[in-house]
This record gives sequence, structure tokens and C-alpha cells, in this order.
Amino acid sequence: MRSLGTDEVIDYTAVAFEEAVEAVDMVLDLVGGDTRRRSLEVLAEGGLLIPLPRGLDVSQEAAERGLRVASIIVEPDYRGLEHLAELADSRRLKVSVSRELPLARPPRRTSTSRAGAPLARPSSP
Ligand SMILES: NC(=O)c1ccc[n+]([C@@H]2O[C@H](COP(=O)([O-])OP(=O)(O)OC[C@H]3O[C@@H](n4cnc5c(N)ncnc54)[C@H](OP(=O)(O)O)[C@@H]3O)[C@@H](O)[C@H]2O)c1
Repeated sequence: MRSLGTDEVIDYTAVAFEEAVEAVDMVLDLVGGDTRRRSLEVLAEGGLLIPLPRGLDVSQEAAERGLRVASIIVEPDYRGLEHLAELADSRRLKVSVSRELPLARPPRRTSTSRAGAPLARPSSP
């Protein structure tokens, strides 16, 4: 995370994040559930919560606290992916590759982030 530019890293398995940070402008919630509700605690007034997984709707509670909620949906974007590839080719976008996987026998899940490793990319057979 530090190599990606993160100033402060919190181990969520050891520390309750809402006790470690406060008054932040934006939370990108990749977890949902109780984590989403707890995320409201750390936002500054007018702060923005962006929930990614479907599920718990905290928009009412957020509005009562003067907070904003905005959902995003990732959609297939050929031109966008091409632009990302150009940025990677020109080394303006740093891509971490932990391992390559054969396209002939693709895994059910290509992300290995739960093992603490960066994303993997498929390769040609
Ligand atoms: N709306 C959209 O368009 C959209 C787009 C992409 C993804 N999503 C959804 O967003 C969610 C995340 O996707 P992803 O691809 O990023 O999944 P992922 O690769 O499994 O990453 C989830 C991350 O959350 C961390 N995490 C798990 N439990 C946590 C907790 N209690 N507190 C803090 N961090 C925790 C995990 O850490 P560890 O590695 O330690 O487990 C991991 O780094 C999925 O539900 C996915 O369906 C939605």
C-alpha cells in the first residue's frame, strides 16, 4: 500500500478503523455490512461514502448526519481499457503483477488480494 502512495495504513484485523481516523472527505467501501455503517463515523460533515458491494442502504442515516452517498457501477469500457493499457505501456500507470495464469485454464478468481499479493493477469497460452 505504501508503494502505491498510501500515507497511513491501518490493519483492520487489529484496529477498529473508526478509532484510528476521523473527519475524512471520502470513504470507498469495498466491504459493506457493518463496515459500511461504521464508515459513517469517520466522515467529516459533507463527506462522501461510495459503497461498492450491494446490500446495506445507509443513505437515510447518512442524510441525517449531513453526509452524502453516491454509488458507482463499473461497466465494460473498451476505450477506457485501451487508455489504461496506453498509460501502462508508457509507464505512467504502474501495474503490479504477482503471477501469470494460462488463458487455456483460467482460474475461477484472478484476484489474489486476500493473500496479500497484487492482482494477477492472464497470459497467452
Ligand atoms: N459497484 C461496482 O461496480 C463494483 C465494482 C467492483 C467491485 N465491486 C464489489 O466490491 C467488493 C470488493 O471487490 P474487490 O474486487 O476489491 O474484492 P477483493 O479483491 O476481495 O478486495 C476486498 C478488500 O477488502 C478487504 N477487507 C475484507 N474485509 C475487510 C474489513 N472487515 N475491513 C476492511 N477491509 C476488509 C480485503 O482485505 P484482505 O485481503 O485482508 O482480505 C481486500 O483487500 C465486492 O463485493 C465486489 O463485488 C463492485
